[in-house]
Amino acid sequence: MKNLKWWQKTSVYQIYPKSFMDTTGSGTGDIVGITSKLDYLKKLGIGAIWLTPIYPSPQVDNGYDISDYTAIDPAYGTMADFDKLIAEGNKRNIRVVMDLVYNHSSDKHKWFIESKSSRTNPKADWYIWRDAKADGTPPTNWRGIFGGSAWQWCEERQQYYLHTFAVEQPDLNWENPEVRQALFDAANFWLDKGVGGFRIDAITYIKKPKIFVDGEPDGKDGMVAIHTMTANTDGILDFLHEFKRKVFDGHDIFTVGEANGVAAEDLNKWVGADGVFSMLFEFSHVNLSIKDGEIWCRRTDWKLTELKQAIANSQAATKNNGWYPIFFENHDKPRSINHFMPKGADSVKAAKAMATILLTLRGTPFIFEGQELGFTNIAWDSIEKYDDIQSHGQYEIALNEGFSKDKALEFVHFFSRDNARTPMQWSADENAGFTTGQSWLPIHDDYKICNAAVEDADKNSVLNYFRRLDDLRQHSETLLSGDYEELLKDDEKIFAFIRATENKKVYVLVNFTLDEVKFPAEILSQAKFIFGSYDKNKIGVLQPLEAVIYEEAIK
Ligand code: GLC
Repeated sequence: MKNLKWWQKTSVYQIYPKSFMDTTGSGTGDIVGITSKLDYLKKLGIGAIWLTPIYPSPQVDNGYDISDYTAIDPAYGTMADFDKLIAEGNKRNIRVVMDLVYNHSSDKHKWFIESKSSRTNPKADWYIWRDAKADGTPPTNWRGIFGGSAWQWCEERQQYYLHTFAVEQPDLNWENPEVRQALFDAANFWLDKGVGGFRIDAITYIKKPKIFVDGEPDGKDGMVAIHTMTANTDGILDFLHEFKRKVFDGHDIFTVGEANGVAAEDLNKWVGADGVFSMLFEFSHVNLSIKDGEIWCRRTDWKLTELKQAIANSQAATKNNGWYPIFFENHDKPRSINHFMPKGADSVKAAKAMATILLTLRGTPFIFEGQELGFTNIAWDSIEKYDDIQSHGQYEIALNEGFSKDKALEFVHFFSRDNARTPMQWSADENAGFTTGQSWLPIHDDYKICNAAVEDADKNSVLNYFRRLDDLRQHSETLLSGDYEELLKDDEKIFAFIRATENKKVYVLVNFTLDEVKFPAEILSQAKFIFGSYDKNKIGVLQPLEAVIYEEAIK
């Protein structure tokens, strides 16, 4: 544990505040609700909570459309509630981490309202404005991430503005130093309040190319995914180094950038001694079923060896540079059991299998709310029932591509971000103990058996498995800092690896199938069994979805 920073030794818990705990009966969670659950999080071994945005927002994209960067949305409470959360967190050694959404603001932000009012106002170039093509159509054929053109016409200015995400999320113009300074000031405001770090949203999109050109269409709509045209543009790191100098440097915090599309081999420029962030969420391991640049509904199957390779690449890339944020779930992804485990898998066994990898790789584990209870996807029977703006866009894309309504809905079942956003299940009481009112999103119908109260009392529950394994990790020098070595690299059924320090080796083996699988017992050398997801383990055999951990002292 020598030389490790506080955030390298702990697990981080991601909270989706809207769905976490409602103390007012409004149907949406609030800050007081988060504070009331700090002891629950402490028992899980959590040292930091990352809150998805709680700033004032019209909620078009559930808070990722921010209309004031230095205030709290009244739906979540007050600044005093927030200060109390920080103070109560500090008492328990739990730091609060804020989400910075700096690629875009809400179209209701006062900066945008001024910017769109004329071509000559003081904030005229705080956003990305362009003239129409000669025929009046948008400046380029880029498709926004939520579907449809990435350009929106503005009557007042007789110009289009760029929105990488929703129409209501206009992109900020980072080329303007005043914009950058305003954003840095807002981040410093939260540092002064004592936050423990930042997750930086959609950061790979902040730098736009010098010249905007049409791309080769990749869909029947004649458009091309904006990601392939603007993500990771040269010069982006200059902006981020300035960000680091003016905000992060000198504080005992961590930063984690959301950086879709940064390849493992480029990680060293982003994290580590010469990088800009402490960690980087890169998505190669969770986007296996979508090939880069391809549009969403053309889902391909993936192989376990591809998952292992993606993880091995990230582990290798962060071996000497920076640090890896380990995650399989967040508020944008389906539940990991549905994503990674075979159809028909027992959810308790499957959740334990995924937890074992999450908590034994090298890096800081990020647990997404509900993951510690074994939450699974929902599958609502009509698109109208879905709240997520992206699900609606993707449904339209699927129909445009010629898929039937049933097939389009099937894609939504698999990919919808609502899978991750159903409310926390605290107990078997009405509304799962989440609210006394009408929940903003329906509660998963498994809440009577899958909830914190029931699992707390059951020693074999997913929750207690997480607690024990997190404890094992936090007390093991080898699991915290040991090197990662691949094991059974080409095996399509078992995910296996070694964590090694000078005097110890820890072996982790997880069966990703519903069958009993044999493995060559000699790979474990002299190691002894120390932890597993079944009551009894067998030599040389992994039972369905079984996870085992062995340890060996090196003389
Ligand atoms: C990130 C967020 C996502 C949001 C998008 C736009 O990808 O994680 O939830 O919709 O950025 O801000």
